[in-house]
Amino acid sequence: MAGVDGHRGWVYYLGVQPGEQGRGLGSALLRAAEAWLGAHGARKVQLMVRTGNPVSGFYAGHGYAVQDCLVLGRWLEPAAG
Ligand SMILES: CC(C)(COP(=O)(O)OP(=O)(O)OC[C@H]1O[C@@H](n2cnc3c(N)ncnc32)[C@H](O)[C@@H]1OP(=O)(O)O)[C@@H](O)C(=O)NCCC(=O)NCCS
Repeated sequence: MAGVDGHRGWVYYLGVQPGEQGRGLGSALLRAAEAWLGAHGARKVQLMVRTGNPVSGFYAGHGYAVQDCLVLGRWLEPAAG
């Protein structure tokens, strides 16, 4: 899943079923997402990987580097009513 926020392109979820990994599908999906994002005005693509997820090597192989950025978040209370 990918989207443009008006400034940057984001890849939110990328996954290949375990039995199908290692056949180039992840790379093809990432290239397709980058092509789509570029065609929709994004000049830079970003994504988040959980600390400790060994998948960072996959992204490094595709030219992605760690950004100097802190991700913040907080849980919202369920809306009343
Ligand atoms: C990451 C993922 C999408 C890669 O998909 P894939 O179809 O296996 O990847 P590819 O076959 O296109 O691999 C391309 C290259 O990346 C390398 N690679 C794949 N997974 C890797 C990993 N976890 N660490 C380091 N390198 C990896 C492959 O060895 C291959 O290298 P090569 O071209 O030199 O042979 C897949 O492993 C996956 O779905 N992982 C679980 C979900 C996940 O963690 N997604 C990311 C959340 S941010």
